[in-house]
Amino acid sequence: MQTNHTNFLSLLQRPRRNRKAPSIRAMLKENHLLASDFVMPFFLIEGSKKCEEIEKFPNIFRLSIDLILKKAALLHQKGIQAIALFPVIEKMQKSLNGSEALNPNGFYNKAIRLIKAELPDLCIITDLALDPYTTHGHDGILNNKNEVDNDATVSILCQMALIHAEAGADIVAPSDMMDGRVKAIRNALDANGFLNTSIMSYTAKYASSLYGPFRDAVSSTLQFGDKRSYQMDPANTKEAIIEARADDKEGADILMVKPASIYLDIISKIKNETNKPIAAYHVSGEYCMVKAAHKLGYLNEMDVFQEVLLSIKRSGASIIISYATEDILKVL
Ligand code: PBG
Repeated sequence: MQTNHTNFLSLLQRPRRNRKAPSIRAMLKENHLLASDFVMPFFLIEGSKKCEEIEKFPNIFRLSIDLILKKAALLHQKGIQAIALFPVIEKMQKSLNGSEALNPNGFYNKAIRLIKAELPDLCIITDLALDPYTTHGHDGILNNKNEVDNDATVSILCQMALIHAEAGADIVAPSDMMDGRVKAIRNALDANGFLNTSIMSYTAKYASSLYGPFRDAVSSTLQFGDKRSYQMDPANTKEAIIEARADDKEGADILMVKPASIYLDIISKIKNETNKPIAAYHVSGEYCMVKAAHKLGYLNEMDVFQEVLLSIKRSGASIIISYATEDILKVL
């Protein structure tokens, strides 16, 4: 039988040839998710053998240090290189100025020491912000007009950084969005001999509606107002570039964008602005949306997580902080 070649389109480009078989698709894959891309966040509570469910945060728990050590060791064996540690402070220990943040013998700093002693090769990322410690839930010290005072807050963050570094933090991560804090923290660390303590700056942190489950987890729900005078307006791009240039210049080692999946344009733009590595925080609300849709039978969580996390990597992030870390490890 003769084939009538005139029926074929004469095309110079047939991109489908590069998609025709699993073997070719595997060879031509441009981006891969690796265990070492992921950072697992943990919520630390005081005490031992404690595992508290968080009502609106499926499969994520408040854990005491003994249980975090166990879980972190397991994750580390599977290739996870870093954890981000957040404290859950009892109401009684919260105050207007969040002074418990500066207690070098508080359970948070003790936990850093223990993790460093037991898992010396695991990178510990500590949180520099006052919101878990303040009664009002804001990330800083208030002035007499109830505004967050930038410079007073920066000076406390510097003291926190020194306490964390002294306890063994590998990376301190200011999540507060005060101006000039990266430079001030770098100076404080250097002046005290912590030349090798890294700074991962929350560079473009948006005033997002997706932080609810996190605030539940650390019980830092705002008692008044919102965070729009320090976190960024979701409508803005240029502001993110200004923040990125500032943090780069001030000496941040890693620049973070947060949230991640609905700010891919920001990740990609900042990637073009700096040669520093980019981290992306796939935040609590981004995780919970997928979990909820899965529970309702609308979407498949494993498929969605893989696609979303890959999109974050594709947009330019080298590090992804995600509550879906344990889920994604199952398919890597
Ligand atoms: C506060 C902080 C927040 C998150 C990380 N650090 C909440 C906020 O800014 O109100 C949110 C992370 C998440 O939602 O997973 N310093």
